[in-house]
Amino acid sequence: RIAGPSGLVIFGVTGDLSRKKLMPAIYDLAHRGLLPAGFSLVGFARRDWADQDFGELVHDSVAEHARTPFRESVWNRLAEGIRFVQGSFDDDDAFDRLAQTVRDLDAERGTGGNTAFYLSIPPGAFPVVTKQLARSGLAQSDGETWRRVVIEKPFGHDLRSAQELNGIVNDVFPEESVFRIDHYLGKETVQNILALRFANQLFEPIWNANYVDHVQITMAEDIGLGGRAGYYDGIGAARDVIQNHLLQLLAFTAMEEPVSFEPRALRAEKVKVLGATRAVTPFAETTARGQYAGGWQGGKKVPGLLQEGGFAKDSTTETYAAVTLEVQTRRWAGVPFYLRTGKRLGRRVTEVAVVFKRAPHLPFDSTSTEELGQNALVIRVQPDEGVTMRFGSKVPGTTMEVRDVTMDFGYGHAFTESSPEAYERLILDVLLGEPSLFPVNEEVELSWKILDPVLDYWAKHGEPESYPPGSWGPPSAEELLARSGRHWRRP
Ligand code: BG6
Repeated sequence: RIAGPSGLVIFGVTGDLSRKKLMPAIYDLAHRGLLPAGFSLVGFARRDWADQDFGELVHDSVAEHARTPFRESVWNRLAEGIRFVQGSFDDDDAFDRLAQTVRDLDAERGTGGNTAFYLSIPPGAFPVVTKQLARSGLAQSDGETWRRVVIEKPFGHDLRSAQELNGIVNDVFPEESVFRIDHYLGKETVQNILALRFANQLFEPIWNANYVDHVQITMAEDIGLGGRAGYYDGIGAARDVIQNHLLQLLAFTAMEEPVSFEPRALRAEKVKVLGATRAVTPFAETTARGQYAGGWQGGKKVPGLLQEGGFAKDSTTETYAAVTLEVQTRRWAGVPFYLRTGKRLGRRVTEVAVVFKRAPHLPFDSTSTEELGQNALVIRVQPDEGVTMRFGSKVPGTTMEVRDVTMDFGYGHAFTESSPEAYERLILDVLLGEPSLFPVNEEVELSWKILDPVLDYWAKHGEPESYPPGSWGPPSAEELLARSGRHWRRP
């Protein structure tokens, strides 16, 4: 679907996210013909810039990061709607000028005044910006014109601050006009979890505590945190991605079937499952926390976190986090959900692995099943997007030896259609007013409620363990699963 008449205002245009993701995504949408004819992009920042300077920034980020090829005609059309408003967040005049620009764009380009405000700024600045949007009349929707606000994580630091933040935003924008970005929900493979589960008869009957032994949700990255200290120091891996991306993956994996894919129905199921999820105690045994040390990774010498520029020399920020959760419902009682994430790990991979119980009886002698693991269904979110099933198979030959094999579905092989980038999909949904893929305030608060006890425990109990770059995290992470005779997958 093509978005109706509209424009997008970005706060924080000079930030990384804006340059690497937002502007390229807007160009890609234009390239695919999904933006309305008079679409307008307004940048708001302190720099002393004219429209043209901002246009150059957009041009350069598109040239560097867009996924679709650069076409002069697409660019020229987009560039006609680019404007810049100079000012700081506490400057009333600047917001009045922004309001005037939005009115002018309606008159000149027929945006209908429909505007989404993208807050790609530190959360500390949300209150002042939302207040300014209210004061200048920019937040006001009426029957004909819509106004929406898009906010980037972190949605708070804990439950209390998230509630405060939601309060501030909801004072100005009604919940249906608030679009919280969790870019994992924009990924095809994440949405496919729902298709896999609810479009098929095969998986759902065994998707429960009777058959599932445990679930492992992994988001591993091989990169470090050079250049991101300002955002990451004091935040850490759990707040950065478990609170949002990994808990959303858990919600998709564990939730009940929604009565429809209508936004309200889908979100209601996510709220239910998150509301039933708890961190398993004692945290000394069920969680792990690490920080990468310096060393060698992929043949290159890399610094440890404490040597990365900008991090406090005694920073206890974790770059690896693992937690054990339980979903307290009839379907999942007793099934551990292990969530882990880390920077500078062995490779970049995000996956959900549903590991099944062993067959109750094996009519083979034990030597012939030595290499037999547990059946597993692995949803590979990235890279090599796809789904893999692991099961035992007879080894060709005269004996009845059984060994694990895998059956693989890869997006690249099965489809010729290409996946839109997550931000492309989500920005388009904002313009369309399609909220399904955006967490509601309740989901955000429930996610903090799950994580807060672990974060409190970590705050009181010492420092993260060190782990070498290129490894799979600290020793305590291995012990966490070994205690119950399980082990982490090595993707
Ligand atoms: C972001 C986190 O939300 O997701 C980053 O803040 C992380 O720390 C990034 O690197 C990973 O995103 P993706 O899409 O590359 O998995």
